[in-house]
Amino acid sequence: MIFTVAIDGPAAAGKGTISKQVAARFGFAHLDTGLIYRATAARVLEGEDPLKAAGGLRPSDLERDDLRTPKVAQAASKVAAISEVREVLVAFQRSFATRDGGAVLDGRDIGTVICPDADVKLYVTASDAVRAKRRFAELSPKNPDLTEEGVLQDLMVRDKRDRERVTAPMRAAYDALQLDTSEMSIEQAVAAAISAIEEKL
Ligand code: C5P
Repeated sequence: MIFTVAIDGPAAAGKGTISKQVAARFGFAHLDTGLIYRATAARVLEGEDPLKAAGGLRPSDLERDDLRTPKVAQAASKVAAISEVREVLVAFQRSFATRDGGAVLDGRDIGTVICPDADVKLYVTASDAVRAKRRFAELSPKNPDLTEEGVLQDLMVRDKRDRERVTAPMRAAYDALQLDTSEMSIEQAVAAAISAIEEKL
């Protein structure tokens, strides 16, 4: 069975949590596509050429411990603006999306570019303040120097770059269900995603 769920939206809106739980609930495979750009960026920060880094990615690159740092996140949104880099990564994402057994992909351009025919498309958002609070709570235990204000600034810069780039800018597909999670618990957001999928299964 091929069944593709596309989950897009800005940083720290809840896409990752929703995607993981939805994938577990339906037994679908999950691909966090942001990790691909982060892994490419980590190699670029080590001096590699962006196109070579993207083309040479291996599964083990996606498991590096340093991918969640703010530095790698910023670098990721810079390499993600290079259209040739994005092109190199399309085939892998599409084949993941159409694997047998169902797939959930989360990112910025899944419903618009990678899987325009996805069975279910969600565009997950939350207010800037809520997203900064969530990301700060997630990162601060390992990064004692971070401030919530700094995290907010970082998210704003990254979102602006992701929204304004020429190739595959971050935006909701016309047929995406918009889910604003600002006032929702994780359980409520996951339940909304599950019911959108059940309608189409
Ligand atoms: O989702 P995450 O915050 O890990 O993504 C890191 C960066 O990767 C984003 O800011 C964005 O620039 C890029 N990205 C993208 N397209 C995707 C997923 C992520 O451009 N499908």
